[in-house]
Order: sequence, then C-alpha cells, then structure tokens
Amino acid sequence: MEEADVKTAMEESLARVEGGDLGVLKRGPLVDLNSRLKELAAEDRPRFGQLLKDARQTVQARIDALAAAKESAERAARLEAERLDLTEVLPGPPTRGHLSLVTQTRDELEDVFVGMGFTVAEGPEVETDWHNFEALNIPKAHPARSGFDSLYLDWGEPESTLFRPHTSPVQIRLMQSQPPPIYAVMPGKVYRKDTPDASHNATFHQIEGLVVDHGITFGDLAGTIDEFIHAYFGPDIQTRLRPASFPFTEPSAEFEVSCAVCGGAGCRTCSGVGWIELGGCGMVHPNVFKAVGIDPEEWTGFAFGFGIDRIAIVRHGIEDIRVLLDNDLRFVTQF
Ligand code: DAH
Repeated sequence: MEEADVKTAMEESLARVEGGDLGVLKRGPLVDLNSRLKELAAEDRPRFGQLLKDARQTVQARIDALAAAKESAERAARLEAERLDLTEVLPGPPTRGHLSLVTQTRDELEDVFVGMGFTVAEGPEVETDWHNFEALNIPKAHPARSGFDSLYLDWGEPESTLFRPHTSPVQIRLMQSQPPPIYAVMPGKVYRKDTPDASHNATFHQIEGLVVDHGITFGDLAGTIDEFIHAYFGPDIQTRLRPASFPFTEPSAEFEVSCAVCGGAGCRTCSGVGWIELGGCGMVHPNVFKAVGIDPEEWTGFAFGFGIDRIAIVRHGIEDIRVLLDNDLRFVTQF
C-alpha cells in the first residue's frame, strides 16, 4: 500500500458521499484499505493507521455536513407545507369602537343635571351595611331589606359588607363629606341577586339625585323631575308622580313618563297603561339627616333615583334590556 492509495480511496469516498452514499465509511475503499493494514511491515502500520484515520475523519465531516443540510432542507419543506395563513382580510376600512349606549346615556344625563346646576359625585360599589341600609333608615328587621336581593361579601362580620344594590348610599357619603347646601347627582353601577329577564339585569346602573338646602319643598322635587325629563326626552313627554313608600323619604313617590312608543294610548311596551315607571323619589326622611348629623329642623331636601339602563331603553324603544350587555354588533352599531 502506498500513501497515494490512501489519497485515492479518500477522494473516491468523498465523491460517493456527494453522490448520496452516506454509508461509504461502512462499506467502501477506506474500509478495504483498513483491512489491508495487516499486510504492511510492522513499523509502517502506525503511520498508515494514522493516515487512514485522518482520511476517515475528512470523509465523516463531509457526511455530517451533508446530513445536516438535508435535514434542514426537509424541515423547511415541512414548514412550508404545513404553513397556516393567519392574516385575515376584512372587507372595507376598519371600523372604530364607541362608548356603549349605557355610558352615552349616563353622560347625557350628567350633562342635563350639570346644566341644571348639579354637581356629579361617585361612591364605592362595595358598601357597608350601615351606609347601604342603616343610615338610610332601613334597620335590620325592615321588610325593605328583602326587596333589595343583596349580594353580601365574605368579608368581616357576616352580612356587614355587600355589593351595593342601589346608589342611595352615596347620598350618605356625600352628606358626611360636605355641609349643605347640596345639589348633586350620583351615577354608578349596582348589583342585585336577580335573574335577568326582558326588563331586568343583575348588574345595572342608577343615577341618584340629592338636594339639601333651606326651604326645599316637594314642589321643587316635582319641578326638578319635570325639567330633567323634558331635557332628556323632549317636550312631548308627560311626567306624573304617584304615591309610594321608601324608608329613606317621607313623603315618597314614584315618577312615571308617558310611553314614548304609543304616546300614552297604551301598547305592549307600557303594558297597555300608557305610562312607564322610571324611579323613586321623595323628601329626605328626618332619620336620614340625623344619621349623618344634619339638623332636620334647619334643612330640608329631596332625593330621587332611577335606572340609567331603563331610561335608555324607554327612550330608544328597546324591548329587551339584556341586549345592553350582549355586545351583539347588530345592536351596538345602531348607537
Ligand atoms: N334606591 C331606590 C331603589 O333602588 C330608588 C330610590 C327611591 C332612590 C327613592 C331615592 C328615592 O333617592 O328618594 O329602588
């Protein structure tokens, strides 16, 4: 065996690797030469052994490079074949979102009341039993408590903390935080343990009104309600007050508007009566003033509260209040 034989065997092996024979180091010319090492004189064997080893390493490096190239080519082909086109082509220009009908209604009502000289205040959605009931003249055993279907939190003493079922406790917080005179509205979200139906959602929104000043009368209350109803609904809508009972006001009333759908003649929306009840109101009960340290001999006041969601569906002739929370684009895009 000559050194040239090793060189030739290596070149032949490399050529076979290029041709796709990646097993050339198992069966090939370098294997053949290796088996002929024993024919050599003992003193030549280490040198040829080293030469053959170097040649095999050169060929192995080429095999590894080719195998790696083949694998990455296969992977690229597989990725290309499995490629998912996730781009979506939307017809027309992109549309912009906007405030929900409830938020728009809340903003409009705030504008109306601010225009009448009221300020806007807010309170927490999680309330204490005292702010929500006790201070509003609804003691523990009062039947009105059950009417609120309240959601209590597992926090502190049992039934001491709840998701507020009305915005009236904000009246209490406001009267505690500032002396009269007070002219304020308090919008916000409220929570009840209610099963949703066409006229109820378990979470909805109310706006509370509170006026405390010297010499405030029931006439001021009636005039204020009439004024804001016309500002919000327009001049053709009638309002009326009907006697009612709330623990936090005395006397109390419910206020109603003539049905915008039938004009008062009676239809499905107003259940045939021509009037739709919007909320409650009345003269602030002396016990409520006492709870917050205002002298009922010196000050009088009125309060009212009604559903923002409800006034929105009445004005827009929406038959099912649940659509306000559905996020159905067919509804949402109409407002
Ligand atoms: N808080 C009452 C409710 O949720 C509504 C209400 C009635 C508020 C009379 C008032 C009021 O301020 O004077 O049913």
